[in-house]
Parts: sequence; structure tokens; C-alpha cells
Amino acid sequence: MDINLVALEAKQAPKKANGSKRPVKPAKPAKKTKKAVVFFEVEILCAKTKDKLCFLDKVDPNSTIGEIKAMFHKSHPQWYPARQSIRLDAKGKSLKDEDILQNLPVGTTATLYFRDLGAQISWVTVFLTEYGGPLLLYLMFYFRVPFIYNTKYDFTTSKHWVVHLACMCHSFHYVKRLLETLFVHRFSHGTMPLRNIFKNCTYYWGFSAWMAYYINHPLYTPPAYGEQQVQLALIIFLFCQIGNFSIHIALRNLRPPGSKARKIPYPTKNPFTWLFLLVSCPNYTYEVGSWVGFTLMTQCLPVAFFTLVGFIQMMIWAKGKHRSYLKEFRDYPRLRSPILPFML
Ligand SMILES: NC(=O)c1ccc[n+]([C@@H]2O[C@H](COP(=O)([O-])OP(=O)(O)OC[C@H]3O[C@@H](n4cnc5c(N)ncnc54)[C@H](OP(=O)(O)O)[C@@H]3O)[C@@H](O)[C@H]2O)c1
Repeated sequence: MDINLVALEAKQAPKKANGSKRPVKPAKPAKKTKKAVVFFEVEILCAKTKDKLCFLDKVDPNSTIGEIKAMFHKSHPQWYPARQSIRLDAKGKSLKDEDILQNLPVGTTATLYFRDLGAQISWVTVFLTEYGGPLLLYLMFYFRVPFIYNTKYDFTTSKHWVVHLACMCHSFHYVKRLLETLFVHRFSHGTMPLRNIFKNCTYYWGFSAWMAYYINHPLYTPPAYGEQQVQLALIIFLFCQIGNFSIHIALRNLRPPGSKARKIPYPTKNPFTWLFLLVSCPNYTYEVGSWVGFTLMTQCLPVAFFTLVGFIQMMIWAKGKHRSYLKEFRDYPRLRSPILPFML
């Protein structure tokens, strides 16, 4: 019987027929039948040595991998959840934090494997360091601080207006990236391995110093086709910067705040996003376009080299993302290429 109904009937129950003024005791609500929960036992082994690291008794079958990581952390405080990789197979893929224990192909005694991902650092810190470095380094060359060029050029400025324009474009690009990191992107991963920051910073800082050295050099020569070349380059650069920003906004709007949802991105009302009709990662297409514009503007070999390396890197990532879209979504638009329409 419904519990509320029992309570109502009890309220309205007539007094006893024998005239006693004692109220009739309300009938006891029917007991809810509880399903017996089958708890799991989870043993965590080291993926490298197969040594047993932890045994968790009476684990709720609805526990997520994230919660299991937290339990494991209690017995091994040195391995905080972000640096744990928990797998079903010692050499397999990491399970997601949202994966639920009872949905995994394991019995009630589950064996999971642990791998230490190493010290972690937050993505935001990584990006701020990666992008803050090039911004400041470039400006040091632009202002010709001492010990870079001949002392007679200390704190002088170039006589070519394209050098000033290039500095504005370079700074604009990195300020945009910094602001997007802080206010636009909704990352699904909180952290990345600390060692990556050294690799990434060497790449970004190294290239920006190399480019800045030549562009701001007292002997720098402006582009061969003069003003027309610079103007065309500026248009390409700005067009691609707006395009890149538009895609970042479209990707942000795909993911509700605080979630890790991944959806198929589609063009929006903003025409810059219409490139989604033809490629899976138009933000990379626009990024490469921006650097092509910058190369044309400065006509500088290190910039061309940076553009080429960046393109190769983004092409590899775009191919990986394109493959995962095809794997994850059956209805993924077939017309799309990873980064360059109909080509790559
Ligand atoms: N110059 C260079 O060498 C170079 C190289 C790489 C990148 N970049 C620049 O850095 C920017 C960001 O790079 P990135 O590799 O982080 O770009 P990305 O993988 O396309 O991600 C951009 C943001 O969108 C989210 N996102 C991507 N696909 C999504 C989907 N289907 N549903 C929901 N959210 C999604 C990402 O979240 P997740 O956290 O889930 O990924 C991330 O927060 C690039 O657009 C480019 O401008 C420059």
C-alpha cells in the first residue's frame, strides 16, 4: 500500500466500536523491500610489477573510477587522483573518471591496474606559462634590451613600420591566447604531466625568441613587395585570428559549464564557423592561416619554419581528433577532412 495513503487513512480512522476514546493506532506503513546490494571487492595492482598495492573491500557497485582513485589515494597519499591512471589491463587505456564500476567488464572481485602518471600541473598554468613567455620574450627583442644586439642599438626602435606592426600582431595573438585560456576554453582535463611544460615551453619560447631576433634585428629588411604584401598579410592574419576565436567560442558553447561532454561541432550563425562543414578542426586551420599571414608580413625564414612545424603538429592532432569523432559518432559528417578541406 502507498505510504501516504496509509497515513491519510490512519488520520481519518473512526474511533473504536466499543466506545473507547482511545484512538485507533494507525496501521504501520508497509515496509519497503530493499534490494540487496552486492558490494564489490577491488584489488589494485601495479601495472609494471603486478604487485598488489591496495585492496578495497565493500565497494559500492555504483562507485566511479574517480571515487576509487580517491579511496586509493587514502592508502597511498603520494599518488593524488590526477596522477593516477587506472586501467582494466596493465597495458591498456586509462579508464575515465566517470566510468562506473558495475558497468565495466569485471566480476564482483575486480582487478584494476595502476600506473603513476608523474607529477601533474594544471592546464591553465601550463598555457599561461607557454603563452606568457613568447609575449615577454618578443617584447625584449622589440625594445632591444641590452646584450642582444650591438650596444649602440640598446633601447632603439626599428625604422621599418612593418616591424612595429609585426610586434602588435605577435602580442595580439598571445594576449588573445592568454585571455582565451582564462575565459573561453572549457577543458576536460584538469592537469597534464609536469615534464610536458618543459617540452612545450622550449618549443614556444625558443621559436618566439628566434623569430623576434631576426624581425627586430637592426639589419632586418622589409618584405620584397612592400606595402601591398604587408597589407595583404595583415588581412590574412586578422581574418584567421577572428576565425580562430569564433571556433573557440563555438567549441565552448558545445560544453555546458563544469561538464566534460564532447559533441559534434556544427556551423553556427557566425560565418567563420562554416568551415566546420569541411574540416573537423577549423581552429587549427585558422591558426595555421594566421602564421602564414605573419610569414608573408615579415618575410622571415624562422617564421616560415615555425609555421611549418606548427602545421605538421596540428595536422597530426587534427587527424587524431578526426579519427576519434568518426569512432565516437556514427552520424559524423563524412565530407569533413581533419584540417584542410578535401586534402588533409
Ligand atoms: N601554434 C601552434 O603550434 C599551436 C598548436 C596547437 C594549438 N594551438 C592553438 O591553441 C588552440 C587550442 O589548442 P587545443 O589543441 O587545446 O584545441 P582543441 O583540442 O580544439 O580544444 C579547444 C577547446 O575546445 C574543447 N573541445 C574540443 N573539441 C570539443 C568537442 N567536440 N566538444 C566539446 N569541447 C571540445 C577542448 O576541450 P578538451 O579539454 O576536452 O580538449 C578545449 O577546451 C588552437 O585552436 C590553436 O589556436 C597552436
